[in-house]
Amino acid sequence: MGLIQDLAGPAAERFAQFGLASQIGIAVAGFLVVTVALNVLNQLLFKNPNEPPVVFHWFPVVGSTITYGMDPPRFFKENRAKHGDCFTFILLGKKTTVYVGTQGNEFILNGKIRDVCAEEIYTVLTTPVFGKDVVYDCPNSKLMEQKKFMKVALTTEAFRSYVPIISDEVTSYFKRTPDFKGQSGVVDICPKMAQITIFTASHALQGKEIRDKFDVTLADLYHDLDMGFSPINFMLHWAPLPWNNRRDHAQRTVSNIYMDTIKSRRARGETGAQDIMYHLMNSTYKDGVKVPDHEVAHMMIALLMAGQHSSSSTSAWIMLRLASRPDIMEQLYQEQVRNLGADLPPLAYEDLAKLPLNQAIVKETLRLHAPIHSIMRAVKQPMPVPGTKYVVPTNHVLLAAPGVSGTDAQYFPEPELWEPHRWERDSPLAPSIVRNEQVEETDEDKIDYGYGLVSKGAASPYLPFGAGRHRCIGEHFANVQLQTIVAETVRLFKFRNVDGSNDVIGTDYASLFSRPLEPANIHWERRN
Ligand code: HEM
Repeated sequence: MGLIQDLAGPAAERFAQFGLASQIGIAVAGFLVVTVALNVLNQLLFKNPNEPPVVFHWFPVVGSTITYGMDPPRFFKENRAKHGDCFTFILLGKKTTVYVGTQGNEFILNGKIRDVCAEEIYTVLTTPVFGKDVVYDCPNSKLMEQKKFMKVALTTEAFRSYVPIISDEVTSYFKRTPDFKGQSGVVDICPKMAQITIFTASHALQGKEIRDKFDVTLADLYHDLDMGFSPINFMLHWAPLPWNNRRDHAQRTVSNIYMDTIKSRRARGETGAQDIMYHLMNSTYKDGVKVPDHEVAHMMIALLMAGQHSSSSTSAWIMLRLASRPDIMEQLYQEQVRNLGADLPPLAYEDLAKLPLNQAIVKETLRLHAPIHSIMRAVKQPMPVPGTKYVVPTNHVLLAAPGVSGTDAQYFPEPELWEPHRWERDSPLAPSIVRNEQVEETDEDKIDYGYGLVSKGAASPYLPFGAGRHRCIGEHFANVQLQTIVAETVRLFKFRNVDGSNDVIGTDYASLFSRPLEPANIHWERRN
């Protein structure tokens, strides 16, 4: 005691000699050292054998947020190698349990409704953007009905009408856009693909009236809505910050534009249209309630937003991949000449099935560049992890990352190589799901959550569209849209990298969706 007083006395005197700012600095530094030490000791001394191992981190709250955020796929792979398929990390103060591999996909994506919950995680982000009473701002059973309404609108008949619409949008875009004037040039491809995606999706899914508004008011309003989706809004969604104010104004304005369109369509007594708005306007819930106009409007926003990021980033990746492999772009052109005729007639829905390489381009790009790298669920009940002693408690969030099994050498030889020909059954790089002829699932592999049969998800390591009750309903549309965009682009252009290399740009993980880093310039040359 005496010795401590002897030492502490002079130290306290010296501390008193510093200015106030220095004293505060020293106190904060001391606090940080103690916090870090306690956090490290806590991880080393108090491991809970009944919970998944925790990724080591120096700082509480911050945890592994930065390493995860910089490159989620790399984070998953490195920690899988250290800890196995199931581990926990700290994401913005929240214990987040990752479970990768096919069993992890099954555990999370096919989790029971009493065990896992998507809306609890996503509603803060989506409700201010989409609006009330739809998607994650309603009970899950209502979302299942809403998904059914949207899905039944996406019929083969509808797709047949969409292909010429998408084709026209693509060709007229390339014709009128100054960056594609002349015989050749260099272009930053990402913003171009974002525009092509919104024009094609809005025209096909929402009708010409809404599409035309994208040339004037709607493009800026959707951009403001989009800003609401930044990751920081998981915490600051409520704050009266400039981007949130713009988001709220855009939500009200877009919603009113849709409501006015609905009113005038009803007044016209329109019949037999193929766009989704028309189908939703004429849908009725199981309890006999007709879908109210504000819900139709909010579902229209949700549909366009859900598809926009995923499809526009995928189409940008496709173009960048083609620029890195001009040989494949040439093969795509020759495939059309061979299978559709040298005069390249206007593309029809049925033609897409005659172009297997064109289809494989989309498939292979989604394998390596799945736009949604992390799928999260709140845990509602303690969840035992089968085959382990772990139980995931209710204060954890679950995170599925199907991209990990999609790039696992166990299923995909040379997994990091972009090779669309691997989807041919006799390719030496063919994935096990293709070699074992498991591509087409039987009805026994499927389940109906209320919006039609969907994959159970357990069997396939390839799940870019998710699985289970929250599975994508836009898969077929996205395939039609992307395949048509690629087929039309290949008819018009030859792409290559500006430096002639086979390199591909890195990934930007800063937003909620992974997309190419920008600017991503490619060289284009008109095909005559
Ligand atoms: C859900 C991927 C395009 C509408 C999902 C999910 C994934 C996904 C992984 C599951 C999310 C979860 O489990 O939390 C993709 C990809 C696309 C694409 C990779 C394009 C390449 C589209 C399009 C539409 C759409 C074009 C609309 C036409 C939806 C909807 C859901 C969904 C409504 C349901 C959300 C839920 O039930 O919680 N999508 N999507 N998606 N997607 Fe897509």
